[in-house]
Amino acid sequence: MVLIALTYKKLVDRDFKVLAVIEREMSRYEYVPVEVIERRVRMPSTHVAMVLQKLNSLKLVRRRIGEYVGYRLTYLGLDMLALRSLVERGLLSALGDKLGVGKESDVYSGLTPAGERVIVKFHRVGRTSFQRVVRVRHYAASKPYSSWFELAKVAGQREFRVLEELYKVGALVPKPIGYSRHVVVTEYIEGVELYLYENPVNPESMLYKILETLRKAYLDVGVVHGDLSEYNVLVAIVDEEELPYIIDWPQYVEREHPAAEQLLRRDVEYITRFFRKKYRVQVDAEKALRYIRGEAEELL
Ligand SMILES: Nc1ncnc2c1ncn2[C@@H]1O[C@H](COP(=O)(O)OP(=O)(O)OP(=O)(O)O)[C@@H](O)[C@H]1O
Ligand SMILES: [Mg+2]
Repeated sequence: MVLIALTYKKLVDRDFKVLAVIEREMSRYEYVPVEVIERRVRMPSTHVAMVLQKLNSLKLVRRRIGEYVGYRLTYLGLDMLALRSLVERGLLSALGDKLGVGKESDVYSGLTPAGERVIVKFHRVGRTSFQRVVRVRHYAASKPYSSWFELAKVAGQREFRVLEELYKVGALVPKPIGYSRHVVVTEYIEGVELYLYENPVNPESMLYKILETLRKAYLDVGVVHGDLSEYNVLVAIVDEEELPYIIDWPQYVEREHPAAEQLLRRDVEYITRFFRKKYRVQVDAEKALRYIRGEAEELL
């Protein structure tokens, strides 16, 4: 079993209670003083000390001994709170293998109580440098968020909400199931990444479907993906049809964003070039852009 799941199983109610108090108070303190934790959890201080000792040894909190003794959560601690909420709401019952480590996320497989396979994506903002965060996450630059956790939570909420909208308008994206804090649960797409997909039956139709999803995103939802590549497309075969799902949406920008046009152009030029080079499918990027923006009803 993976570390996150193993750690989760070791926790009891009062551990979660202390974690939740620390999470809440972190908006006010860099390290939450022990006295504040004691006051908020309403447990005898000897119990609080024992819980904090346990959380510290499981690396769910970090202790600082300076002018005062204080604690803050680690990402693992935040993971526990998110998992707890997802489990209690009946959205998740087990965590499986780690499928990937992205630049800013860890992706695991999981199971719902009904036994459906799902994807559990943990956003990890701040693992790389702040410069990168500001560059990649456009929404970060304009907001004075003080901690990485807040940014990771924004990424989780953004990804879930945009997936809900995209899914509603019939775009080929994984069905969103739920989220808590920085963790998003979606449908598991039984497929392979486009960059690994050899010998497609109908690459032309796959590219059209990708462009159709971009059009729905742009016209019906009002967003641009902004990081489209052969790594963020999963090809599933359903009834002998190749369905290209577009994943990884947290960095999307709204159509009205000053960088939207440039990002849309980048996405479209990138994916049409990929299909041209790899599969010899010829689609003119300008025509595709007009189709996506709704200036033309057909691609050809
Ligand atoms: N819904 C899904 N179904 C099946 N596999 C998925 C799904 N979502 C993600 N994956 C797998 O996990 C990998 C990483 O997911 P995703 O692209 O969403 O995050 P990421 O690349 O780590 O994000 P970033 O690097 O931008 O933080 C994918 O390449 C894919 O292999
Ligand atoms: Mg990705």
